[in-house]
Amino acid sequence: MKILVTGGRGQLGHAIQRHLQGHQLFITDVPELSIFDLISVEKALHDIQPDLLLNAAAYTNVDGAESHKEEAFQVNAEGPLVLAKATGKRKIPLVHLSTDYVFDGTKKTPYTEDDETHPVSVYGASKLAGEIAVRDYNPQHFIVRTAWLYYVAGKNFPKTMIELAKNKSEIRVVNDQFGCPTYAAHLVTGLVELITQGIFGTYHMAGSGQTTWFGFASRLFKEMGLKTIVKPVAGTEFPKPAPRPVYSVLQTIRRPAVVLPSWEEGVRDFVELFGKHAG
Ligand SMILES: NC(=O)c1ccc[n+]([C@@H]2O[C@H](COP(=O)([O-])OP(=O)(O)OC[C@H]3O[C@@H](n4cnc5c(N)ncnc54)[C@H](OP(=O)(O)O)[C@@H]3O)[C@@H](O)[C@H]2O)c1
Repeated sequence: MKILVTGGRGQLGHAIQRHLQGHQLFITDVPELSIFDLISVEKALHDIQPDLLLNAAAYTNVDGAESHKEEAFQVNAEGPLVLAKATGKRKIPLVHLSTDYVFDGTKKTPYTEDDETHPVSVYGASKLAGEIAVRDYNPQHFIVRTAWLYYVAGKNFPKTMIELAKNKSEIRVVNDQFGCPTYAAHLVTGLVELITQGIFGTYHMAGSGQTTWFGFASRLFKEMGLKTIVKPVAGTEFPKPAPRPVYSVLQTIRRPAVVLPSWEEGVRDFVELFGKHAG
């Protein structure tokens, strides 16, 4: 299968390049292909004639989006709209990534695909607008909501924690936000399974189980053999421009289900590859 990947040099894009095998990949990103630039998108589809478009592009700076609303909406809402129209017209299936931040976090049990969305941040609102555009303009879509994504490439929570641990004997980490850390390599495997099943729709796909940022960091340090002490604190200790859902655990009720390995297995596999990467 010929797969055109947009936003292909981000975290997920790097994971796709390394872990998605057996298909012909066409990796693109800004500046050569901006997803909200209709002419560039049309040209890429015409030149490559892909069997599938996988959109890994996004404006992912959750706090930055609060003060750069226009930019966030341009990439996260207008971009998917352009992609959905262009692929829909050509009957090319579209895989589009979305987020747990489309939910407000007031639920006390895992969010399923049927739960009502209600974003509390600009980033979440922009991603929700992107979902709606994809649903409206390309019926052959896989909208995949994932969460707390990380990989050995790119900027993310575990890499920040590892950096901090180099100079600190103790790190304070938020222990009252619950979610599903998702190792990008596992997500790639899940996306391939989903595409192979070929049933279009909206899916939740995140590391199985749940934890807090504190739990995530503690597990990471344990796997890495780091001695830095991780101390649990309330989110109010680290005020941020964008509100976060306090509980955004994702679960799938779609059948056949694509269920990712546990978030703990994700940390283990990340550490294994990170060691090789660092060495
Ligand atoms: N990271 C998370 O924790 C998380 C959680 C839930 C869902 N997701 C979703 O998962 C997907 C992948 O996330 P990720 O963490 O891999 O993101 P990422 O590392 O930020 O990568 C996004 C890529 O898109 C590129 N991009 C930005 N604007 C673009 C445009 N107009 N056209 C084409 N490419 C553009 C970025 O380039 P620049 O770096 O140059 O801007 C970057 O290479 C996104 O849809 C995201 O919303 C992520």
